[in-house]
Amino acid sequence: MTVRIEPSILSADFVNMEAELARIADADYVHVDVMDNHFVPNLTFGPQMVQRIQAVSPIGLDVHLMIADVDRWAPGYAELGAFSVTFHAEATAEPVKLARRLREIGSRAGIALKPGTAIEPYLELLPEFDQILVMTVEPGFGGQSFMADQMGKVAAVRAAADAAGSELWLQVDGGITLDTIEVAAAAGADTFVAGSSVYGAPHAGEAIAGLRAAAAAHAH
Ligand code: DX5
Ligand code: ZN
Repeated sequence: MTVRIEPSILSADFVNMEAELARIADADYVHVDVMDNHFVPNLTFGPQMVQRIQAVSPIGLDVHLMIADVDRWAPGYAELGAFSVTFHAEATAEPVKLARRLREIGSRAGIALKPGTAIEPYLELLPEFDQILVMTVEPGFGGQSFMADQMGKVAAVRAAADAAGSELWLQVDGGITLDTIEVAAAAGADTFVAGSSVYGAPHAGEAIAGLRAAAAAHAH
């Protein structure tokens, strides 16, 4: 199974973003956390900033929207050229309609689940998505501890995707380090977001390589 490492710029220096993006050029995609201080109790940036990141990034953008009213705002991130746009299941009543719209515009469509959200209602909708994000912390902040109790959800998605012969990417986000990535890979994740463990390292490229090797050793 292909392993993808996606550093989160939430832990980067926002004032030196172009240089911070260059540090992670060896990664597969850059994870871009958009927060509105409403869906989550924290605020990052919106489409204007993401458009500039898109313009200068050496790698494609995996946008994670932690915002309300995604039906209104998510398509704009696909329109500015993001490789992938993930919205929260808790933020829309019509996830399938929104995913179809994102794909129509030309981005991949992802759906994210907070730790308290059950996976079962979404298992039969998996063909409508290119990616599912199982949050392994409460969304809102970097540097929190990995929630191993979410691995049952990861395993359920992996089993359903494999049974369907699906190409769905199974992403985990929150608390991913050299110590926790193996558990997530063993449960069936293939796409790993890492903020503090990459940007907090002296050499981001080495941190990415270390995470990739650890995940690959335990991947399905
Ligand atoms: C948290 C964000 C994450 C965050 C992860 O709500 O969605 O992407 O950057 O940070 P770490 O890897 O430090 O837990
Ligand atoms: Zn994220």
